[in-house]
Amino acid sequence: MLIFSHLSKYYGTHPALKNINLSIGPGEFVSLIGHTGAGKTTFMKLITREILPSKGSISIDGIDSSVFHEKEVLSLRRKVGTIFQDFKLLEKKSVFENIAFALEVSGEKSQMIKKKTFEILESVKLPHKASSSVNELSGGEKQRVCIARALIHKPKLLLADEPTGNLDPITSWEIVKLLLEINSLGTTVIMATHNEQIVNHIKKRVITLQEGTIFSDQEKNGRYIL
Ligand SMILES: Nc1ncnc2c1ncn2[C@@H]1O[C@H](COP(=O)(O)OP(=O)(O)OP(=O)(O)O)[C@@H](O)[C@H]1O
Ligand SMILES: [Mg+2]
Repeated sequence: MLIFSHLSKYYGTHPALKNINLSIGPGEFVSLIGHTGAGKTTFMKLITREILPSKGSISIDGIDSSVFHEKEVLSLRRKVGTIFQDFKLLEKKSVFENIAFALEVSGEKSQMIKKKTFEILESVKLPHKASSSVNELSGGEKQRVCIARALIHKPKLLLADEPTGNLDPITSWEIVKLLLEINSLGTTVIMATHNEQIVNHIKKRVITLQEGTIFSDQEKNGRYIL
């Protein structure tokens, strides 16, 4: 699914990631941990091609990142769904509009947009909020809208960058359970998090970054060790 090969990323002269070599297989659930500034978000942005490697390469679903053309970048972004700590939703728009937007830009017909949007809202248990404005929602509900939006193109890979960072413990668990459910249906999930309890409880693969390098990679029953 994902292969990082001798990958380094410098911001100016500052190395954010240094010589990363690792592979993540289809269907894995990976917790990405590390102190602030360790390189987690940089890791995510390299996958979506928001930024490019300084050295080395990333192969995503068999395609080397360095040979991507415009068209392939678009198709890559459809294979990869992303969710963030601060949601990045259109606050004044409705829940329905926030999700439908992703389908409108790809030119789907309105009947199909409605059908797909309600199906996806069903899967995050929010169909009753379809016409609510996003700024009327709780944090947990907002994050569920983000997950729905990220899933709309049925991505093979879901990147979640501190998805529970702004949520209380109970709501955080609901979101993590949803991510685990999505993973159990076959989507590869990479979750960057500072939440020790969650990482220790879910017992999945844990990759620890430290100052831009891989400090440890616990393939099974991973623990939160920094
Ligand atoms: N656009 C940028 N320009 C310059 N330096 C940057 C930029 N983005 C990140 N950095 C630096 O790169 C390093 C890694 O940052 P990154 O955001 O990947 O860390 P992180 O592990 O996600 O941290 P956090 O847990 O706080 O989210 C940090 O030292 C940061 O200051
Ligand atoms: Mg970050």
